[in-house]
Amino acid sequence: MSAPTLARHHAAPRVHPFPGAPDTAPTVVLAPLTAACTPRLGRRALLHEHRATLATPRRPYGPVARLLFVTMDLLYGRRGTLEKFMVLEVVARIPYQIWENAAYRALGRRHRDAGLAHRITERIEENRAQQDNEQWHLLILSELVAARGGGRSWFRFRLLPWVMAASYYHLSWLLHVVAPRRAYRLNADFEDHAEHTYAEFVAEHPELEAVPHRSAFAARYGSHGSVADLLRQISHDERMHKLESERYLDEAPLR
Ligand SMILES: [Fe+2]
Ligand SMILES: [Fe+2]
Repeated sequence: MSAPTLARHHAAPRVHPFPGAPDTAPTVVLAPLTAACTPRLGRRALLHEHRATLATPRRPYGPVARLLFVTMDLLYGRRGTLEKFMVLEVVARIPYQIWENAAYRALGRRHRDAGLAHRITERIEENRAQQDNEQWHLLILSELVAARGGGRSWFRFRLLPWVMAASYYHLSWLLHVVAPRRAYRLNADFEDHAEHTYAEFVAEHPELEAVPHRSAFAARYGSHGSVADLLRQISHDERMHKLESERYLDEAPLR
C-alpha cells in the first residue's frame, strides 16, 4: 500500500467548498485535511488497490450478514447503484457509535488500570475516526445522488433507511453486549461486502473515469480527479475498516 498522499496538517491546493459562493476562504488549510484517518491514496495506488480488491475473495459471510445483504437486494435491487450505496452508508456508522459508547463506559470502570485504560482510549479514538469516515462517505454519496436527481422517494430513501438504521442499532448493540466477537465478525463482513461492492461497481462502469468529481466536502475528505477514483478511495477505506474489525477479533476484549 502506498503512503498517504495528504498529511494531516498541510498547505492544500485550493478547493472551494461551495461552488458559486464568494471566493473568500483562506488558501491554507490549518485544520486537519481529512477527518477520515484512513490513508488517502494517489491515482496509481488507487488503481493498484482496486485490482487487489477485485483479485481477493470475499470473506465467508455469516448468516446475519447474508440476511442483511439479501434484504438490501430485495429492497434496492441486486445491481449496485449510488442510491443503494447511500442507504448502506446510513447504517455503516452505527456499530462504531455503539463500540465507542461501550468503550467510554469501560473507561469509567477501568480507569485505574493504566495499561487497559490506554488501550481503551486508543479504541475510542479509532471508533470515532471510523464514524467520521463513514459520515464523509454518506455525505459524499448523498451529494452524488442529489446531483443526479436520484433518491427522491420518501419511502425508499427516508423511511426505510431510518427503519433499517434503528433495527441495525439494536442488533449491533445486543450482539456487542452478549457476544462482542460476533459483533466484530458481522462488521468485518459488512465492510468486506462494501469494499468489494464499490470496487465491482467501478469495474462495471468505466464511464466514471471521465466524470470529474467536485465536492463540497473535498477539503475535509480529500479530492479526487474522477468519480471512479473517489469510489476506489471509499472502497479502500472500507478495507481499512474491515481489517480493524478483524484485528478486534484477535485482541482481548476491552472490558
Ligand atoms: Fe462507508
Ligand atoms: Fe466502512
